[in-house]
Amino acid sequence: MTKNVLEIEYERYESLNELSVEDRELAEAAVKAVSGAYAPYSKFNVGAAVRLSDGQIITGANQENAAYPSGLCAERTAMFYANANNPDKSMVSIAIAAVKDGQLCGRPATPCGQCRQVMAEYQTKGGVPMTILLVGADYILKFARVESVLPFIFDSL
Ligand code: THU
Repeated sequence: MTKNVLEIEYERYESLNELSVEDRELAEAAVKAVSGAYAPYSKFNVGAAVRLSDGQIITGANQENAAYPSGLCAERTAMFYANANNPDKSMVSIAIAAVKDGQLCGRPATPCGQCRQVMAEYQTKGGVPMTILLVGADYILKFARVESVLPFIFDSL
């Protein structure tokens, strides 16, 4: 038996100004995408922006339903749309932002387990690391690949 320690490396930025031009553009697209949220039940509005390998940005927002499980997170809304319409392009980056009580959350929202699993699959399919930007009003976190937020990925491909 060996005991092993897993280290997760990530970057923290104190403001959007510190990001690269591309990352900033994606982060701002995620914040803008929040306006598409339909979240009358949780009142937690989330936006996601996916950058494809050709540079284009696809956005999505959470969609809720009176039959709660029928709703979908912002991340999967964006990724499913992206892949349905661009099956031959990789997803190179995803940014996520959340608004509560009309304010961008100070602490960045972190994706749920199901969204992480979907990110993992598209990262494998795309063949390149998918970077993850979690955009908060107080700070921004950047992860270099999906494994950083989902260690020991289930991957049957
Ligand atoms: N939600 C997202 O869209 N993305 C996340 O990363 C976390 C949760 C949505 C699902 C639901 O509509 C609302 O936020 C409250 O959980």
